[in-house]
Amino acid sequence: MFKEIIQKEESRFLEELVQLLKFPSISADAKYKDNVLECADFVADKLRLAGMDQVSLLQTAGFPVVYGEKIINKDWPTALIYGHYDVQPADPIDLWHSPPFEPVIKDGKIYARGAADDKGQFYMHLKALEILIKNNALKCNVKCIIEGEEEVGSTNLETFALAYKEKLQCDFIVISDTSMISNENPSITTGLRGLCYMEVEVTGPNRDLHSGVYGGAVANPINILCQMISKLQDENGTILIPGFYEKIEAVSQKERDAMSKAPFDMEAYKKHLDINAVFGEKEYSVLERVSIRPTLDVNGIWGGYIGEGAKTVLPSKAYAKISMRLVPNQDFHEIEKLFEDYFIKIAPENVKVKVTPHHGGEPAVTPTDSFAYRMAEKAIEKTYQKTPIPLRTGGSIPIVSMFKRVLGVDTVLLGFGLDSDAIHSPNEHYHLWNYFKGIETLCHFYSEMD
Ligand code: BES
Ligand code: MN
Ligand code: MN
Repeated sequence: MFKEIIQKEESRFLEELVQLLKFPSISADAKYKDNVLECADFVADKLRLAGMDQVSLLQTAGFPVVYGEKIINKDWPTALIYGHYDVQPADPIDLWHSPPFEPVIKDGKIYARGAADDKGQFYMHLKALEILIKNNALKCNVKCIIEGEEEVGSTNLETFALAYKEKLQCDFIVISDTSMISNENPSITTGLRGLCYMEVEVTGPNRDLHSGVYGGAVANPINILCQMISKLQDENGTILIPGFYEKIEAVSQKERDAMSKAPFDMEAYKKHLDINAVFGEKEYSVLERVSIRPTLDVNGIWGGYIGEGAKTVLPSKAYAKISMRLVPNQDFHEIEKLFEDYFIKIAPENVKVKVTPHHGGEPAVTPTDSFAYRMAEKAIEKTYQKTPIPLRTGGSIPIVSMFKRVLGVDTVLLGFGLDSDAIHSPNEHYHLWNYFKGIETLCHFYSEMD
């Protein structure tokens, strides 16, 4: 029955997503402040269209959280839906085949920044709720919070959760902001990595120098920074910061065995990324390396002359942004400290270093024996005719552990994206098949709570 309704509404459901994707709601860039706020208003309107009550913008110190609820029966379980209407910056813009905020539908996919992360995904919930409310088929209470600062670390959400603790009371949280193994192998995400993000500045001489006149006797901060970075991780991918692995909770052999059964095609993986070989810890499979193991990556490195032609210069400063993905029970504040101490320790005397932490996030593991997980599993079985595989993933959604800590509630990560959706990359897209399949699955999820 849901399938038919969705088919009938297909063009409207798609058109509304196109409208949503047109807002350049980039939370990281102050230039887009008004666009982010306009996007919040649009989401509020669409919650009203879905038939939700008490729709409002709840203010935070940053961008507002869009709230709506449908409370039908006090004896029924209450779901709290979380999503985010903000998106990553679109650059490098030149690599997009069509403008990032002018959605294009091509080969069964919709291309736009935010298509899969997270607009296309949270919007499926609004459409499922609309169908269920209209047809009197909603069988749980729902509360909905769509925030505007996820891509900048959700820094105001803990204060928000504490302030609205009563309002946010629920039995479980449901989030569609992750991916599945493939459309043939549906999966439910059961773990997310944490994040520790640092910026470093290495200073050599007090000004840029002629590299002929001074080179050889004055330390070049870019050379030194590269040497220092090479001391953070060895060729096997092992991180060399003392104490880094100390608190890690071992993953049970049972879970590792289950993971090893998840389908993974090494050749297809390499081909998709155009790489000849993968990287990382030999003792762990690729799926393990990107989910249950911590990592360290340089996200950006700059300094000196990068303009046209050649300029012989020995620069005064070098910079890098370095992030670490964390696993349970690594604490990002502790890792920040370990990183800083080590980075200062390995700095040679001929430079000065400054280490600044950016936002971080806690890792999370979600239960597979909860009511919400069973309901999600059942809903996927209905629409995919397959039992979803539980699998941890490598990305981070820091609020999952924050909600557990502040509200005492577990999350089910019911995502419908694919790793190939190019989230955070140029030409981000979402498959229309996944969009409609997701709506259908969520219709079952919210209407068959027993
Ligand atoms: N939706 C992603 C997280 C994600 C993507 C989880 C794919 C699993 C699979 C989220 O919007 C995101 O990008 N998170 C950031 C962290 C945040 C603190 C900026 C990340 O993982 O880099
Ligand atoms: Mn996201
Ligand atoms: Mn993201």
